[in-house]
Amino acid sequence: MSNLIGNPPVIDSARLWQALMDLARIGATARGGVRRLALTDEDRQARDLFVQWCRSAGCSISIDAVGNIFARRPGHNDALPAIMAGSHLDTQPSGGKFDGAYGVMAGLEVVRALNDVGVQTEAPIEIVAWTNEEGTRFAPSMMGSLTYAGLAPLAQTYASTDSEGKSMLAELERIGYKGEGCGGRAIAAYFEAHIEQGPVLEEEGKTIGVVLGGQGQFWYDVVLVGQDAHAGTTPMRRRHDALVGAASVVQAVNRIGRDTLRSCATVGHMRVEPNSRNVVPGRVSFTIEVRHPDDEQRLAMDAAVRRAVQEAAHANGLEVELQRILDQPATPFDADCVFAVRRAAEQRGFSHMDIVSGAAHDAIAMARIVPTAMIFVPCAGGVSHNEAESASPGDLAAGCQVLLDAIVRKAAG
Ligand code: GLV
Ligand code: MN
Ligand code: MN
Repeated sequence: MSNLIGNPPVIDSARLWQALMDLARIGATARGGVRRLALTDEDRQARDLFVQWCRSAGCSISIDAVGNIFARRPGHNDALPAIMAGSHLDTQPSGGKFDGAYGVMAGLEVVRALNDVGVQTEAPIEIVAWTNEEGTRFAPSMMGSLTYAGLAPLAQTYASTDSEGKSMLAELERIGYKGEGCGGRAIAAYFEAHIEQGPVLEEEGKTIGVVLGGQGQFWYDVVLVGQDAHAGTTPMRRRHDALVGAASVVQAVNRIGRDTLRSCATVGHMRVEPNSRNVVPGRVSFTIEVRHPDDEQRLAMDAAVRRAVQEAAHANGLEVELQRILDQPATPFDADCVFAVRRAAEQRGFSHMDIVSGAAHDAIAMARIVPTAMIFVPCAGGVSHNEAESASPGDLAAGCQVLLDAIVRKAAG
């Protein structure tokens, strides 16, 4: 084992790239992206392929009550807590080939590379594919990992519905990925490799981002209710126009984001009813999300957003339903795991820098219960949640190598 730490195996860059390209065929879009929403048939196909690849690599599979998939490579001392690595297989509606998929395929490549040299780590290794990280079809994001970590109640996770009213539980059962139990696996450390999804590494000319933690965020579901009315006969002064109210909230959320240094604030989804050109809109449902690396600032933004919603409702004679569905504090990663990542990057001679994650990740949920760190690699133009998302085979291989080295160090027992 000590020989393994001093001289860890080299990952196979071409094999990692091929796995990513093969996976990207499931849900492939005409514009080169991937649409593989959580718990759809495409998600099931990706899960099936992942399970098949893991079994061929000698792993045993278990699936928990929310569909998280764990592939286990036994350790020499299998009673030791596992070193876990992974990410998610679901994508945004117009997603790319790498967000999520990379962390899962990098975990698989670590196992394959260890198999190549026929060595067994002291502690077991588990590769995980978390359910519904994106939070786009079923909210909130990080659903599988938050539920695993005991931070979202199972009943609430099951009850989440998509835009057609289908429940998470029904869809999980439909695709055949509802297992037993949730949480409580023996895990010594969790690592997640991911594309950065922002422009920093590329701008700084660095190959590896040593991720120190993730910023906090909150998510709201908002409904403004006014009155459907004839667009040609209802005087302007008598209207209760929910869309006018929503429009002023969109402006306010954007302004709050612009006025707060280092913050992000977004309205990304909206449904207008009845959505007819000659009816004053009586009901608008939309989302608000706000992110900041400092929790005090995030809470101040939260208060400002709530005020803006109330003011918009008052000004337009609307009723408000405001439901906070995610309150994720800023989360630092474990110093020792971060050190393992930085050390691996240094020893391999990869240029690197410390960075804080702007995006949400399953690692941010896992960091609340086990020692955790992440490895970022650059993506072209910082573009992500976009079909054009792209990363170079060399950078992806470098991040995977750092993942292997960090896992081997931690799995030494
Ligand atoms: C998911 O990628 C998120 O950052 O919300
Ligand atoms: Mn992701
Ligand atoms: Mn994402």
